Amino acid sequence: MNKPLPEVQAAHIREDELDLLEKEARYCSHGDTVHYAEHPKFFDRCEGSYLFDLHGQAYLDLQMWYSAVNLGYANPVVTEAMRAQMEKLPQLACQYLHREKIELAEMICDSVERGFGMKGRVHFNVGGAQAVEDALKLVRKSTGRQHMLAFQGGYHGRTLGASAITSSYRYREAFGEFADRAEFIPFPYTFRSSFPGDAAKTEDWCIGEFDRLFAHEYTGAWNSKTGRSEFGAFFVEAVQGTGGYVIPPKNYFRRLAKICKERGILLVDDEIQMGFHRTGKMWAMVHFDVQPDIIVFGKALTNGMNPISGIWAREELINPAVFGPGSTHSTFASNTLGTATGLAVMRIFAENDYEASVKEKGAYFLEKLRDIKSRHKEVGDVDGLGLALRMEMCTADGFTPSRELADRMFQIGLDGGLPLGPSRNMGLVLDIGGYYKNVITLAPSLEISDSEMDLAAVALEHVLVAAKSLH
Ligand SMILES: Cc1ncc(COP(=O)(O)O)c(C=O)c1O
Repeated sequence: MNKPLPEVQAAHIREDELDLLEKEARYCSHGDTVHYAEHPKFFDRCEGSYLFDLHGQAYLDLQMWYSAVNLGYANPVVTEAMRAQMEKLPQLACQYLHREKIELAEMICDSVERGFGMKGRVHFNVGGAQAVEDALKLVRKSTGRQHMLAFQGGYHGRTLGASAITSSYRYREAFGEFADRAEFIPFPYTFRSSFPGDAAKTEDWCIGEFDRLFAHEYTGAWNSKTGRSEFGAFFVEAVQGTGGYVIPPKNYFRRLAKICKERGILLVDDEIQMGFHRTGKMWAMVHFDVQPDIIVFGKALTNGMNPISGIWAREELINPAVFGPGSTHSTFASNTLGTATGLAVMRIFAENDYEASVKEKGAYFLEKLRDIKSRHKEVGDVDGLGLALRMEMCTADGFTPSRELADRMFQIGLDGGLPLGPSRNMGLVLDIGGYYKNVITLAPSLEISDSEMDLAAVALEHVLVAAKSLH
């Protein structure tokens, strides 16, 4: 059952809302949601950086559907592309061809070639975890190996295959044995490493530990006689998403990729959350000057409209002679509404300099977070790459993780009624991530304005002060 509503919400609750809540408690599984909210919230409308509840109250959204809506809610250009496809070719089985699928694949291949200097092909699916599954199949097919490496703090989705390479045991615990569970390697998380605040030492330590896996055959990872490792691929996120927007030191991935190459381990770059200019670059891994073998994408490709996900892979791994028809398939894989919206999104990216604008906006927002940190000891760390920003909530010692504080900030924002914004009555939509679930992970719209960022900073400090006062 849902918890009793707070006064501010209860005073405004509508009868139909209560009715819906009762029905939700009766008919809806909670197993398909993350359900962080103590008091679930209904939303009715969305536009730009805002969600609106049933009473018309505006909520500034700083998570944009976990970074699936990079170009703002109800983006008119994207909506129009989908509407046009709705009237032209809204349905088509994926075995038949349509123009938008091919043009979208071409644009993704071109962007990978521009970013990484490599040629390859694109393969579509629907959700992120499904694309991760396809990448797993591709790795198994091309390497003959089913064991993978992945990061502690990494997140790749919740299907069985994706759960096996996702670091949280909690996500697997109730679901039996995962014989193909990945080997989880520490990520260079400077703030919480053995060398807090020292990126160079953190990087050296992490690389050293990884390299040691291949020092001799008794590490369980490597046969020094055959020169074969047990692992087909290393699944990585350039910036950890669900793990708390953790940004690695600059040279880390270059060193990691070198070791993988020497040991015949493919590098799979999961760009599902950080791709499509979230970090400024089209692909987050471009910041780190590394060439992945496979790229996995989803979320923001369709700006949160009809979903499309997929993988890009090097030509030699995925050409039809080696990865033929039926290697993977989903009925809705390259659905026409998704390819048309995806194409519109890619064209918007091609026609505007998001690399520059996201860098500039990210620097502006990060400065505001630093400012908040300077006034509150409970903000242990702030960091950002483009508009992927983090605010790590701690106890007053500035280091011990405080999930309670982050949860309270989240709930106060979602309850609404904050005396802020033009109507002096607004809410704030936040997301929480991190190894200790104490990090406010900020993924605002890439179109967010300076005045909205000013408001966001005021609102963040407001919910922080309110959350502290409840302690
Ligand atoms: C990096 C990463 N990989 C995979 C996934 C899974 O994608 P989906 O939720 O669409 O299955 C997510 C979702 O948050 C993600 O952030």
